Amino acid sequence: MASSSSLAFALLIVLSLLHSTSSSRPLIGVTYAPPILAPTIANPHPPPPPPPDRVASIVTSLNIPAVRLPNSDPSLIRAFAYTNTTILLSIPNAFVPTLAANRTLAQRWLYRHVLPFYPRSKISLISVGNDIFDTTPDLSPFLLPAVRNVHLALHDLGIKKIPVSTTFSFFNIITTSFPPSSAQFQEPAGSLIMKPLLQFLEDTNSSFLVNVYPYNMYRLNCEIPLGFALFENYPFNFRDDLITGVRYTNLFDVMVDAVISAMAVAGHENIPVIVAETGWPSSGADASEVDATPALAEMYLKGLVAHLKSGMGSPLRREGVAEAYVYELVDIEVKGERSWGILHQNFTQKYEIEFSRACKIESVGGFRALLRFFLIGFLMNLLCAGDNWSLW
Ligand SMILES: *[C@@H]1O[C@H](CO)[C@@H](O)[C@H](O)[C@H]1NC(C)=O
Ligand SMILES: *[C@@H]1O[C@H](CO)[C@@H](O)[C@H](O)[C@H]1NC(C)=O
Ligand SMILES: *[C@@H]1O[C@H](CO)[C@@H](O)[C@H](O)[C@H]1NC(C)=O
Ligand SMILES: *[C@@H]1O[C@H](CO)[C@@H](O)[C@H](O)[C@H]1NC(C)=O
Ligand SMILES: *[C@@H]1O[C@H](CO)[C@@H](O)[C@H](O)[C@H]1NC(C)=O
Repeated sequence: MASSSSLAFALLIVLSLLHSTSSSRPLIGVTYAPPILAPTIANPHPPPPPPPDRVASIVTSLNIPAVRLPNSDPSLIRAFAYTNTTILLSIPNAFVPTLAANRTLAQRWLYRHVLPFYPRSKISLISVGNDIFDTTPDLSPFLLPAVRNVHLALHDLGIKKIPVSTTFSFFNIITTSFPPSSAQFQEPAGSLIMKPLLQFLEDTNSSFLVNVYPYNMYRLNCEIPLGFALFENYPFNFRDDLITGVRYTNLFDVMVDAVISAMAVAGHENIPVIVAETGWPSSGADASEVDATPALAEMYLKGLVAHLKSGMGSPLRREGVAEAYVYELVDIEVKGERSWGILHQNFTQKYEIEFSRACKIESVGGFRALLRFFLIGFLMNLLCAGDNWSLW
């Protein structure tokens, strides 16, 4: 494409942004699971997990409006009572068959995790299972019956305002991610599990939850420029979906729109999408993870928050995702594990991120970023066979 027409296109985008009266901004939250540290020889007495009240007060002091609790720890649910922080609960995969078999047992779970705290603690949604295809695919036939039983059990208890869903991981459900318009759900799960589940979500006004990690996508596909994964903002940092004629300026939107396309192919394009996990590690599991640095993690998180707060949505969905949860609040400092926290283990801040202030598009970059972008692009071209986006 001639550079003058690119420039004209960019100008058009800028103009349309200036004019867009963006209505809804997604809720941006964090994931928190208390660290469970096993005693080691070097550290025979690991510290106990921080008190739940301390966690709740840190979350509120950072102005984080939403928190996702993967273990649904009752003491944490209680700690968020009378705060304005909404809580997304998750039921571990191991409970799925039990919940599928017996609605009484679903009620029992709610008696322990919801009834004592709701509505003082603002429970916004319950996810039955997290990424079941990854660790426990054998349990997947139980997924929808379990989701349905939890939904019915909530109604039995007179609670009609908490939707129920489950959480998937992008890589375990989507066929291809580029171009996003060609994405579908992987079969046979697409027909057997996703379709009936999407129907349930539509019937009950619930949401589709998915873990979206541009970091992993970037690592698997060396032809993706780093700046594209990090929301960097400079000329030619885009990819066009030639089928829809839609332009993508970041990898997050590519992945979100792949999910939206797959839902549309399955006949359910209007279900709200919640990004249950996303993030960028500040240190890797080993030396091969050269892009797991605090500086790049900060760029990703700031870029993500600015993008979500801009209210631009994604190209295929004007309102974009409904909610997004950063993984995760606190580092678990264990050797050989990635660090994802926005806080160090001692609860000091790693990055300054404004979760819930008014919209402000940050301009990252400048000349140095531009230079780095071209340098990285040059190196990538040396390393990769070619710029072949059809591979991912
Ligand atoms: C929660 O929000 C309401 C309404 O916006 C406000 O009046 C109240 O003070 C808030 N409570 C806390 C604990 O921030
Ligand atoms: C469900 O579980 C309850 C409590 O364990 C038990 O009393 C009941 O018989 C079970 N129902 C079915 C259909 O398995
Ligand atoms: C879903 O939402 C629509 C519009 O808000 C409402 O009319 C409908 O009753 C809701 N359905 C359920 C099952 O809650
Ligand atoms: C907290 O932990 C980080 C990383 O381990 C360290 O750099 C920092 O100095 C610590 N701060 C305090 C106040 O202990
Ligand atoms: C990209 O890959 C596709 C199929 O994998 C191939 O047909 C095409 O020639 C490749 N294009 C380039 C530029 O390497």
